[in-house]
Amino acid sequence: MPFNRWTWLALCLALAPAAHASSQLALDKGCMGCHGNPPQKKAPTFAQLAVDYARHANDPGADVRLAEQLRARHVFGSIRAHETLTPDSALTLVRWIIHGAP
Ligand code: HEC
Repeated sequence: MPFNRWTWLALCLALAPAAHASSQLALDKGCMGCHGNPPQKKAPTFAQLAVDYARHANDPGADVRLAEQLRARHVFGSIRAHETLTPDSALTLVRWIIHGAP
C-alpha cells in the first residue's frame, strides 16, 4: 500500500483510542491529582515527564525498566499511587508518557 494521506488517516484512527484509553487510565488511577494542570505536591506535569521520557523512545526495554522503577520507588517518600499500580497499568502509563502523554 502506498504511504499516502489515507495511510495517515488510518494510523490516526487506529492510535487515537489507545492514547485516550491511557489518559483515562491516568485519571482513574488518581495520577492527575498530582501530575495534572496545575500540578500538586511538586510533581512534574505529564507533559514535562513526556519531554524527559522521550529520550527513551528508541531504547528497547526502557519501558519495562521505568515501569518497575516507578512501582518500586520509595525514594520520593512513598507515593502510594505509584506503588499500588499493577505491572500492566504501570507499563501502559509509562509507554503513554514515553510517546508524549497528553
Ligand atoms: C501524591 C502525588 C502523586 C501522585 C498521585 C502520582 N504521582 Fe507520579 N510523581 C509524584 C512526584 C512528586 C514525582 C517526582 C519525584 C521526583 O522527581 O522527585 C513523581 C514522578 C513520577 C514519574 C517520574 C519518575 C521518574 O522516572 O523520575 C512518573 C513516570 C510518574 N510520577 C507517574 C505517575 C503515574 C502514572 C501516576 C498515577 C498512577 C502518578 N505518577 C501519581 C507525585 C505523584
